[in-house]
Amino acid sequence: MRAKGLGKSEVLAKLRQAKAKDVCYRKGKIFSSMCTTPNSTAKRARELFVESNLGDPGLFAGSLQLEKEAVSSLLELLHAPATAAGIIVSGGTEANLLAIYAARNAAKLAEPELVVPWSAHFSFDKICDILRVKLVKADLNDKYTVDPKSVEACINKNTIAIVGNVGSAELGAVDNIGALSKIAESHGLPLHVDAAFGGLVLPFLRELGYEVDDFDFSLNGVQSITVDPHKMGQVPVPAGGILFRNSDATSCIRTGTPYLTEPFQCTFVGTRPGASAAAAWAAFESMGREGFKRTVKRCIDLTAFLKDRLEKSNFEIIAKPTMNIVAFRTTNSKLLVDQLRKRGYFVSYVPRLDAVRIVLMPHLTKRHLINFVQVLGELAKA
Ligand SMILES: Cc1ncc(COP(=O)(O)O)c(C=O)c1O
Repeated sequence: MRAKGLGKSEVLAKLRQAKAKDVCYRKGKIFSSMCTTPNSTAKRARELFVESNLGDPGLFAGSLQLEKEAVSSLLELLHAPATAAGIIVSGGTEANLLAIYAARNAAKLAEPELVVPWSAHFSFDKICDILRVKLVKADLNDKYTVDPKSVEACINKNTIAIVGNVGSAELGAVDNIGALSKIAESHGLPLHVDAAFGGLVLPFLRELGYEVDDFDFSLNGVQSITVDPHKMGQVPVPAGGILFRNSDATSCIRTGTPYLTEPFQCTFVGTRPGASAAAAWAAFESMGREGFKRTVKRCIDLTAFLKDRLEKSNFEIIAKPTMNIVAFRTTNSKLLVDQLRKRGYFVSYVPRLDAVRIVLMPHLTKRHLINFVQVLGELAKA
């Protein structure tokens, strides 16, 4: 650290220099991220609540109220019963961690195991390592969703929970949560749904008239859901969400906080931003269901447009998109990703599928896609 501080303007100038090196969503070159340009009202809320620490909620009653209301909106959207509870956390990883932490503590087994789809997000690798739970991966079918028979075969006396994807990170694939819920109920196990991405897509697709199977608390086996405001909720990072069917579940993940304003915390982190809860609340209030529907419709239409263009260019689409993620394969997918990167485009390479993955987030427009497809065409000819 420098001995004497710099003036504000000098610090700001240096910050602007650093910021200029960041890629900006609005430029239309980021096709790989599940985050996006934040909602402007949510951004303002973040600034207003920048001091707030929900790790010590007795000091921040207003922030706590906003967290409760933001969580209520998510619970209502996902058909939770009156017994439910939730927390705005740092993201999908912490949300998944808290769900599995609760399941592990409730099960009290000496050699706990967790059954996840082969397509589960890598956060489960971290979580099982931290919690010392054995990770058991169930097979997928030809639609890249988990095979319920394989899940059932993975269950044994050590299983603490089952996980299903509602929007796998790589393909946006939606598992058959109805079948998983039945399996969970028949074995007396909790089903955790990782809807980090899809939880703020599918409810609106259904309202738009698309056929969407039940995937949320309307199914009795579903005991917890991850749903992230900082993905399709357009809330500034960090803002994740964990929802529990029964608030009792949080009693398994309580830690006493002797010198703070409240006697315990249920989150992994201690100090946590009230600004995230305020921003989630502001995004939900300012967009409403209508705003979410408009955004989701736009992203889905862009996905259909891109899929069509890719097919016309003879790229192999990996799976029919269920939400705003499309993945395709070409003779050398990795090379194509590297070449696109040299042209300023960020797309993902998915090694386990040898595929190029594109996420059609709200910051993208049709014009961006037309430019992108043109670059793809040039690279294919070269
Ligand atoms: C399905 C799914 N679950 C969990 C996560 C982890 O979320 P985060 O990066 O916010 O911790 C992601 C992130 O992309 C995801 O797509």
